[in-house]
Amino acid sequence: DTRDHTSLRTPIVAVLGHVDHGKTSLLDKIRGSAVIEGEAGAITQHIGATAVPLDIISSIAGELVDPDDFDLPGLLFIDTPGHHSFTTLRSRGGALADIAILVVDVNDGFQPQTLEALDILKRSQTPFIVAANKIDTVPGWSVNEDSPINDTYEAQTDRVSSRLDESLYEIIGNLSDEGFSADLYWRVQNFQRNVGVVPVSAMTGEGVPDLLTVMMGLSQRYMKEEMEIDVAGPGVGTVLEVKEEKGFGKTVDIVLYDGTIREDDTLVVGGQNDPIVTEVRALLQPRPLAEIRTESRFENVDEVGAAAGIKVAAPELEDAMAGAPVRVVRDRSLDEVVGEVEAE
Ligand code: GTP
Ligand code: MG
Repeated sequence: DTRDHTSLRTPIVAVLGHVDHGKTSLLDKIRGSAVIEGEAGAITQHIGATAVPLDIISSIAGELVDPDDFDLPGLLFIDTPGHHSFTTLRSRGGALADIAILVVDVNDGFQPQTLEALDILKRSQTPFIVAANKIDTVPGWSVNEDSPINDTYEAQTDRVSSRLDESLYEIIGNLSDEGFSADLYWRVQNFQRNVGVVPVSAMTGEGVPDLLTVMMGLSQRYMKEEMEIDVAGPGVGTVLEVKEEKGFGKTVDIVLYDGTIREDDTLVVGGQNDPIVTEVRALLQPRPLAEIRTESRFENVDEVGAAAGIKVAAPELEDAMAGAPVRVVRDRSLDEVVGEVEAE
């Protein structure tokens, strides 16, 4: 019975949006809130990703999330760059995500990379919500640090809340122009059919409890079957970036979405020509924040399990490509795995 070996993995959440609209700030806010909750160690920083466990999400979301209602382990957020030159990286991030957050600055509205991100989500059929960010910059805004949107909304003057409404309805209109039926998230009944818009501030934390609640709800309700993985099986992932790393040569930053990868594994990685067959030399994770001053930025790990972001050092990676598949061979036939990588 294979069910004994399956488990629910962390859903992968891509954070997409135009340059400077606040993607990284939003993740910083979530990390920062965990630090305030005295739980800094519980959030693990991955290569290109941040894992936030369920109990932390529930303590940030307050009464909005009861951990007993959920059995997914948390969320793995992938930050993507908004600058126009990073199209490939954005589309890799968007395509391998289970769900996404599209960040839109409420004042700046839809911009070229907002549209590009929507296109990626449309093509990959990734369910997403819109974070209408920087609500604290609405003129006259009165800040209620880290509060759910309903509470801070009630605390605004009519003039301020109608200014915000105007910007939010413009975003909803823009989404509709792109073929997405959207509404403020508390009016959305079916998140598969409608895109929920969540007003937030990455600066003040307002609306962040709502955002996390909606993300957990979405993944729990619509993703559960897809999250079932063979926890100890050979790893499967995607290359996010190919990078030269001092002391390691060419390395690949990968997002692992199934199984495990170990220090002594043989890997097949999609290359510019033929698939590359190579042996893992090191699995590297960023050091915890406290140790950032030590010589190496990385620490070696023996094994990682999905979902995770990890840097892999291995020989022969010169021809590896961003977006290419990665598969662990382990006790499978090498030819079969090479065939799968070729077919992807
Ligand atoms: P790229 O990675 O370059 O695409 O940008 P980004 O989307 O990650 O934006 P980032 O988080 O770097 O934020 C850009 C600027 O906006 C920074 O100066 C932030 O401090 C500011 N900012 C982000 N979110 C908010 C917000 O909610 N309110 C205010 N007032 N400023 C914000
Ligand atoms: Mg950023």
